[in-house]
Amino acid sequence: MSARIIDGKEFAARLRARVAATTAELKSAHGITPGLAVVLVGEDPASAVYVKSKGKAAHEDGLRAYDIRHPATLSQEALLAQIRDLNADASVHGILVQMPLPSQIDPQAIIAAIDPLKDVDGFHPLNAGRLMSGEYGVSHGLVACTPLGCMMLLKDVLGDLTGKDAVVIGRSNIVGKPIAQLLLQESCTVTIAHSRTRDLAALCARADILVAAVGRAEMVRGSWIKPGATIIDVGINRIEVDGKNKLVGDVAYAEAAEIAGAITPVPGGVGPMTIACLLRNTVVAAALQAGLNPPAI
Ligand code: GUN
Repeated sequence: MSARIIDGKEFAARLRARVAATTAELKSAHGITPGLAVVLVGEDPASAVYVKSKGKAAHEDGLRAYDIRHPATLSQEALLAQIRDLNADASVHGILVQMPLPSQIDPQAIIAAIDPLKDVDGFHPLNAGRLMSGEYGVSHGLVACTPLGCMMLLKDVLGDLTGKDAVVIGRSNIVGKPIAQLLLQESCTVTIAHSRTRDLAALCARADILVAAVGRAEMVRGSWIKPGATIIDVGINRIEVDGKNKLVGDVAYAEAAEIAGAITPVPGGVGPMTIACLLRNTVVAAALQAGLNPPAI
């Protein structure tokens, strides 16, 4: 069997067309231009690439983008002062502080300082808690961008997810934990696996839905996968092949595609969805801050 390739790039383009249309409507009907501030501390090359593409995408879809850079030596106090300024700036509807942060800065302190209404990452304890208590689903609220994008793809491929066995590999606050909550809301039976999990291969063999978010190149082998399963590969790992840099996921793609029913490629799967969902969250945040009903995008 050869798996269906889940084209995240194409799905994200359609989502971004809806983001652009809603942005145009917010402008013409209400005089609001959704504004996104992206803050990068330090010069990590991968983070710099992500931040640049986030700003570029925002601009392309008609949002206002603020690209804020700080040296790696920035103090926590200075970053908190920056967050306070952005919270108070009415032209900024979404704030994203790129993770990871340098070691002198406590990420939780920064996330907690962001106005929850401007928390387009969905990382603030209030938004994470609302997700946990079932208040936020795939179509409401400020839900973490990568998990939201993965769920949109899963629902597009599978429709109703009720009763499916879902295994999430990875327990990060950015991906593993929130996507497990979203899968649970869709009535999946969810298992979260991590670095201390015993016999991961046997666990994966039960999964109708397998989400890999560990950051280890090609860790999930084809032989682990249940025939016909849907595979969502969140990993973006740079490896060297024949002296050349190559991007690969957490799943051994060629092997997995022989067994799975559907699979996201790397690149071109989850990555474009993360950016599209960030823009979606910013537009939703702008509408909510203006007291409007959240647009259905
Ligand atoms: N670093 C890796 N992914 C993300 C993300 O979704 N948001 C932020 N703020 N930082 C990240």
